[in-house]
Amino acid sequence: MKIAVVGVGHVGLVTAATLAKMGHEVVGLDDDDRKIEGLNQGKLPFFEPGLKELIEEVTAAGRLRFSQDPADAIAGATVAFSCVGTPSRADGEANLLAVEKAAESVGKHATGDIVFVQKSTVPIHTADRVQAMLRRISKHRFYLVSNPEFLKEGSAVEDSLHPDRLLVGADMPEAHEIMRSVYEPLMNQNVTYFATDIKTAELAKHACNAFLALKISFANALAQICDASGADVCSVADIMGSDPRIGRAFLNAGLGYGGYCFPKDVAAFKVQAARFGYEFDLLDDVIKINQQALQSAFRKVNDVLWNIEGKRIVLLGLAFKALTDDVRESPSLYLAKLLIDAGAEVIGYDPQANQAARAQLPELQVVDDLYEAAEGAHCLVIATEWPEFADLDLSRLKGIMTHPIIVDARNILDPQLVAEAGFTYLPTGRPPVNL
Ligand code: UGA
Repeated sequence: MKIAVVGVGHVGLVTAATLAKMGHEVVGLDDDDRKIEGLNQGKLPFFEPGLKELIEEVTAAGRLRFSQDPADAIAGATVAFSCVGTPSRADGEANLLAVEKAAESVGKHATGDIVFVQKSTVPIHTADRVQAMLRRISKHRFYLVSNPEFLKEGSAVEDSLHPDRLLVGADMPEAHEIMRSVYEPLMNQNVTYFATDIKTAELAKHACNAFLALKISFANALAQICDASGADVCSVADIMGSDPRIGRAFLNAGLGYGGYCFPKDVAAFKVQAARFGYEFDLLDDVIKINQQALQSAFRKVNDVLWNIEGKRIVLLGLAFKALTDDVRESPSLYLAKLLIDAGAEVIGYDPQANQAARAQLPELQVVDDLYEAAEGAHCLVIATEWPEFADLDLSRLKGIMTHPIIVDARNILDPQLVAEAGFTYLPTGRPPVNL
């Protein structure tokens, strides 16, 4: 089946490569010349484990190519996936200009009836708006589908090839039929396939992201109480998580959630709910607690250093989470900014995101070697949960740091080992050591 994927960012590129792996003939379309040029030379615009190899495999097999020409990508396609960005407007509402343009492009260049699949996260009723617009500009039939993705950066390829669920919202049987054949190659796995109406699918995606953000904020609220009371938030999360009705995932307290999705999606969901006459105040608290988690980490560093001005602080992890080079809405960079504004000298290091961090926060010094960063430091802060930070050479660090202090904003170190190595250790929502 020929499939056009409009927008080859984090969602679109993974979607295009996965569809090609499933055996479809895929063209990835984007209006960013440099991105398409790079992809045609085998250069990926971002780091995602396994994606480069997958793209090499499916392009070599002739099932995936990239184009800037909508006519080339869309003509003859049975399905067009819209994977364009839906950033926030100032009031939190999603800006759907890119979705409108993607739909317009499909409308203008479709050479027959076509399924238009909205993959990136959009507000409820977006499909209705797209359908109305397409009817005005084309003589063909458009079958609208909401097919939200649930992939996570850092495990996007795995999540897409082995999803736990597939969600397809459509109001016409023909659309459901075609989408089943699109995903047929994944059906022999243990995947739950939800075939619903469009509005339910649009809403369900928001519900999932908002609920996951709520879980994280709940854990961060508990961490505040644990910090004040001496209880251990990791053990509390383990105990809660052993109840299958609660589940352990997304109960890790830390610096709060970041990235391109949760911050904008929670805000957009709140605005949408209000449009439907419901004040979803719970989401305000989710956002507030997320900000408090960052402030609390800042206060912890500030307090332990006594006078922060001129102190050298190493920040380990600059991406919004591990296994990505994405620094959009990265809590680590927000913390860096707070520390720099308070007068500290901050040196950052990330296994993948150094370049992106330099571009995003030029006042942050970024170095390519973790131990070079730690030389002469008064405090080391673990801001992103990269697995390699769990294996730090503590005795080497102790030898090169001016003050042996570690603030573990992601709780990835073993408190006993850090204590034995002679550090003052300040985790999040857990009792401090050697304070
Ligand atoms: C999230 C969802 O998990 C995906 O299901 C969804 O498809 C995606 O958004 C999207 O809407 O496109 P992603 O933003 O890639 O995926 O990353 P997550 O793994 O969800 O992490 C988000 C943030 O929460 C990160 O900053 C992470 O460090 C933080 N987090 C996560 C915690 O602070 N604690 C946790 O227990 C889990």
